[in-house]
Amino acid sequence: QAPEAVSPTGSPTGAPATARAQSGQYLTTAQGLRLGDTDHSLKAGSRGPILLQDHHLREKITHFDHERIPERVVHARGAGAHGVFRSYGTASNITRAGFLAKDVETPVFVRFSTVLGSRGSADTVRDTRGFSTKFYTDEGTYDLVGNNIPVFFIQDGIKFPDIVHAAKPHPDREIPQAQSAHDTFWDFVSLHTEAQAHTMWNMSDRGIPRSFRTMEGFGVHTFRFVNAEGRTTLVKFHWKPKQGVHSLVWEEAQIINGMDPDFHRRDLADAIEAGAFPEWELGVQTFPDTEDQMFEGIDLLDPTKFVPEELAPVQPIGIMTLNANPTNYFAETEQVAFHPGHLVPGIDVTNDPLLQVRLFSYLDTQISRLGGPNFAQIPINRPQAPVNDMLRDGMHQQAVHGGAAPYRPNSLDGGCPFLAGQDVGAFIDVPEELAASIKERKNAASFDDHFSQARLFFRSLSPVERDHVIQAYTFELGKCYEKSIRERQLAALANVDAELCAAVAKGLGLPAPEATEQVADSDPSPALSQIGGTWPVA
Ligand code: HEM
Repeated sequence: QAPEAVSPTGSPTGAPATARAQSGQYLTTAQGLRLGDTDHSLKAGSRGPILLQDHHLREKITHFDHERIPERVVHARGAGAHGVFRSYGTASNITRAGFLAKDVETPVFVRFSTVLGSRGSADTVRDTRGFSTKFYTDEGTYDLVGNNIPVFFIQDGIKFPDIVHAAKPHPDREIPQAQSAHDTFWDFVSLHTEAQAHTMWNMSDRGIPRSFRTMEGFGVHTFRFVNAEGRTTLVKFHWKPKQGVHSLVWEEAQIINGMDPDFHRRDLADAIEAGAFPEWELGVQTFPDTEDQMFEGIDLLDPTKFVPEELAPVQPIGIMTLNANPTNYFAETEQVAFHPGHLVPGIDVTNDPLLQVRLFSYLDTQISRLGGPNFAQIPINRPQAPVNDMLRDGMHQQAVHGGAAPYRPNSLDGGCPFLAGQDVGAFIDVPEELAASIKERKNAASFDDHFSQARLFFRSLSPVERDHVIQAYTFELGKCYEKSIRERQLAALANVDAELCAAVAKGLGLPAPEATEQVADSDPSPALSQIGGTWPVA
């Protein structure tokens, strides 16, 4: 027998399921003992030493001593909001996900974040932004854990610790705290040139969004939709803000960081409080699930590549409205645990080697961040679908499980015999033939092109936007003290675009190197507008 579904705090009203309002008539201890005085410790006389027997003092101080939990290893600083997602039903022919059927409303919780700064860092730094959405669907929780940039730094997740170590503050002095790039960052991206495309987006205005409300979101990886007949389609997710896409200029970002480091979280909370609910349309680019998983020469399993919308239009499938602020930052925004492996029937993963490593990493990190394996019981993480698992015990267990036989089938509890047809509605992994039979540590040759997408993005920008990119590279590389690293990054830029390279080299007072890889003048077509252009109406 499945237990009753428990509402997560993620209701559109934002009311926590186990709210402890500070409105009682009198104060108590954690055990409910009524207290007369919480301002004076128990002493031997009014000037004497404090007595160890003061159980209230010890409870109060001990609890305070343990108030902090580790911040996220990345994306430590964030702001969240509750909302609702309404599906158009336009994807129901390609996915059987119930929450994507026509006119289904699903409660959501969204957390926006910067990537590199600590919890107390400033909002308007130059950085990638996280855009994570938890859909509390009737079929289980689905998480879309994306970014505001459609490509990623690395192709294989095994390098994730390395890029993060290179981009976080230097280990000796913990400088810089803000995300202005520095020697180790440029060292990494000039040596691992697959990072050039993401870096180009960071150096563009996309790296300093005006507001969380004016950011696009991207699933980055290619995912797989499965419909009721079992037919599969490859998809890339896009969030399009109804507020439009807007950025700051660098000088504004700098001034705001100084004057109001909470600018983005304040902006989000204020807008929601004022009833100006921000909205995003969710859309997908769709691709045939072919054997090679290539589309127009782009390897769909390479997370450093995006597919221009001219080649695959984004098709709207639903709309999300954020309509309630969290009641308690710690309980909700800090304790929420997203995971790309939180899937529902109708949405599956692909063999993208970055995604595959993420599938391991999130659960693993949350076990230490949230103190053991039971964090799915924290109100913000509770599914809205009924839960009937065989997971037992462990740190911070909140449930009182009945029954004696948490295994199946069993003949003692009458619990869950295998029934014919019980897999109807269940998550079924898409069967896939594996092409390679050789164990090897290398990338496919289709991952080798590291420059054409950086070029595609740069050449799609308006002249003003290009100037901003040139200024950003010049400023940030100007903070890179090792000349050989600056020269190596210029060599990478030469392979992207000769004019960009020459302008940055001039700004740095260095000679512009020649391209070492062929840069086709006609590649890409200037007609290819940047991501975030117009978007077709379904
Ligand atoms: C957070 C690992 C790539 C988006 C995190 C966290 C870890 C992590 C350990 C902290 C989670 C927590 O404490 O709850 C990795 C690894 C990656 C990777 C190993 C590559 C192999 C990506 C990519 C994206 C992304 C490609 C975007 C598509 C995010 C976001 C968060 C996050 C948005 C913050 C979630 C939140 O708001 O709580 N990542 N990540 N990550 N990651 Fe990744």
